Amino acid sequence: MKFGYFDDVNKEYVITTPQTPYPWINYLGTQGFFSLISNTAGGYSFYKDARLRRITRYRYNNVPVDMGGRYFYINDNGHVWNPGWSPVKAALDGYECRHGLGYTIIKGSSQGISAELTFFVPQDFNGEVQKVSIKNTGSAVKKIKLFSFLEWCLWDANDDTTNFQRNFNTGEVEIENSTIFHKTEYKERRDHFAFYSVNAPLAGFDTDRESFLGPYNGFGEAQAVKNGKANNSVADGWSPIASHCLEIELAPGASKDFVFALGYVENPFAEKFAPDLGGSDKIGEKIITTGNSRKNIINKKRAYEMIAQCDTVEKADKLFNDLKAHWNALLGQYKVDSPDEKLNRMVNIWNQYQCMVTFNMSRSASYFESGIGRGMGFRDSNQDLLGFVHQIPARARERIIDLAATMMEDGGAYHQYQPLTKMGNHELGSNFNDDPLWMILAVAAYMKETGDFAILDERVPYENDESKAATLLDHMKRAFNHVCTKKGPHGLPLIGRADWNDCLNLNCFSAEPGQSFQTTTSKDGKVAESVMIAAMFAFIGPEYAAMCRVKGDNAEAQRAESEIAVMRKTVMEHGFDGEWFLRAYDDFGKKLGGKECEESKIFIEPQGFAVLAGLGKEQGADIKTLDSVDKYLNTKHGLVLNNPAFTRYYIQYGEISTYPPGYKENAGIFCHNNAWIICAEAETGRGDKAFEYYSKIAPAYREEISDLHRTEPYVYAQMIAGKDAARHGEAKNSWLTGTAAWNFVAVSQYILGIKPQYDGLKIDPSIPKNWAGFKLTRIFRGATYNITVKNPNKVSKGVTKLVVDGAEKAGNVVPPFDGGIHEIEVVLG
Ligand code: GLC
Ligand code: GLC
Repeated sequence: MKFGYFDDVNKEYVITTPQTPYPWINYLGTQGFFSLISNTAGGYSFYKDARLRRITRYRYNNVPVDMGGRYFYINDNGHVWNPGWSPVKAALDGYECRHGLGYTIIKGSSQGISAELTFFVPQDFNGEVQKVSIKNTGSAVKKIKLFSFLEWCLWDANDDTTNFQRNFNTGEVEIENSTIFHKTEYKERRDHFAFYSVNAPLAGFDTDRESFLGPYNGFGEAQAVKNGKANNSVADGWSPIASHCLEIELAPGASKDFVFALGYVENPFAEKFAPDLGGSDKIGEKIITTGNSRKNIINKKRAYEMIAQCDTVEKADKLFNDLKAHWNALLGQYKVDSPDEKLNRMVNIWNQYQCMVTFNMSRSASYFESGIGRGMGFRDSNQDLLGFVHQIPARARERIIDLAATMMEDGGAYHQYQPLTKMGNHELGSNFNDDPLWMILAVAAYMKETGDFAILDERVPYENDESKAATLLDHMKRAFNHVCTKKGPHGLPLIGRADWNDCLNLNCFSAEPGQSFQTTTSKDGKVAESVMIAAMFAFIGPEYAAMCRVKGDNAEAQRAESEIAVMRKTVMEHGFDGEWFLRAYDDFGKKLGGKECEESKIFIEPQGFAVLAGLGKEQGADIKTLDSVDKYLNTKHGLVLNNPAFTRYYIQYGEISTYPPGYKENAGIFCHNNAWIICAEAETGRGDKAFEYYSKIAPAYREEISDLHRTEPYVYAQMIAGKDAARHGEAKNSWLTGTAAWNFVAVSQYILGIKPQYDGLKIDPSIPKNWAGFKLTRIFRGATYNITVKNPNKVSKGVTKLVVDGAEKAGNVVPPFDGGIHEIEVVLG
């Protein structure tokens, strides 16, 4: 069952009922100010850091689900409703939600009034603009009241939901004309405030939640709205809100537009306050403030400058069109026209869009991540970069430097850092032994995309300490050596606290309920080894050697290559189980993910990298391995992580065996690692298999089963319940997942096969045999490559002819150009 449809021309997903199986959300903002918005306008906003600068309040896991957001209520002669259905939930005559790239448009109509709400965060603007158009579609004059509503968060989202003994006393606001200001803690240490304004005179306002809603009422029963009259309440502690009340009169057929702006402002300390108003009658007349104090009045200059940028419909429309142009440019870097409509829509629109969102959010704020827990993940952000580097290389560069600065001198890294401070998170620390390798992969991807080899000479601190700065190449070296110098009894890499699989905690041995498997390590284990890190090392290690060559250090490149050769041999001796690769050795030196294991005889994670690295290829290990993956892990909804699932708790394996079978890391379909198998299948030339796995998990292909899948059909979820789960096929944890980047890599570089390299763009598709070919436009280092791939002989892989601007060339790598548009023809055979 579907709950909407794709509008590819407008690059939108159109939701046709407010009652989707779960809130289907979108993200607004790409720079500093961000909002989450659901299809009923639920959600919240923050500036840079979802925990430390939360602007509006949101209650996770609320009953009913998704209550709280930015709401517009209409009181039409006693008939109270919301254009976005929630929170009043009055039946609508019409409803539509269009989630587009960086904006959401919600339309609702009821009893002769239609309303269209457009929400977006303009470029270079620290705020959310809301354009509200109200139309009288009936035949009589209408006089309605429109109420806006949002609830302020007292900045630190964690403290806001826990520290009530303090917080119920601190809330402060100011109201000046049509703008409501939130200034809790501004008079003391904060240098920031928020505002919510509208470009029309008010009939009234409310800033105190209880006055607006009425005691014991929910958002759906707002008393002020019901009464058709705002209370002009001034928040004094408790829960400050912002609600404007407008009176609107509309002749039949007439419409009116309003622009609301929710903004965030930082003032330099010396400029925080307006001059003391002394005995001025501005207080109480023009400026209304908590406590009616003449002191500590906000200097609102910067806020008014922001408001002036969007105080007319024309200005708002211009900002909106600029935003659209911005996104079209970003997505225009890679555009495919293949015989598969769903693949086109994933590649050209939604997968790239999700990659940008994961770049911005890492794993911080979604409807599954509260924004108060994790900051930016080290391994996560490095992998996310693989999916967006072609869109905004300059920001990829900045991200690389930020990440490298959280590395430690031994080549390890803080596992997470806070985006506001960019400092490593000490509580969580380091010792996830896969982390350093992802950094090498990200830097390599950036250099291949841009040709900017000078980044390796950039001086970057260790542990954010400038006195410990060294070149980025030095960071790469230490990252590489981190693996070489931390090996266990079989010569395989020690796993540390965990590798990519956070839940495989071989040194943890937790027996305490509630103890965190991520932060608890009971031993500095010298036995438990990861075959996955070994396979990653074989695949990613050569990237380090290549960097050394780029910098002319052949001796170091050779040293690296000999380390890799040793590891390759070791994996085949101790890490291959005959038909697939083992997962690990536990702290007792026992095999995990092998035939002799009682449960979980095979894991997905090492297989893809081992095949991509060509481990044991000469003896057919690649095909055997991929056939085993198909045989033991494949289901109709994707590949499960491990099989058979763990059915009891194994203290020596950690969190993985805490999950019920079929969920998360215990035999869930973890979409992130499915991509590694897609890459590996494509690499070995099995394009049909690659496509089968790709289309099983890509959301556009699952749209028809949205009632089962439940999360958004336009973005990947981290996990789909595996075959051992009662709800097999149901997705959870949508949006913020490495699945986005890796599946984009899989489809763009391995299936469609357009792969940036140091010396140019390699074209090596691995497609379903029945495709006649495809066309693709790729902007690479400033030049436009118009690529036509023909497949006359119905093969999957193998370039037999390459024609560049009319001239036939050997091989399948097209060199970089100095700008211009170039026609490339490729024939497979
Ligand atoms: C989550 C984490 C990621 C980890 C994965 C597997 O997605 O964000 O870092 O690799 O789970 O445990
Ligand atoms: C939990 C999740 C895992 C995630 C980790 C991060 O263990 O299962 O997916 O990576 O938390 O803290």
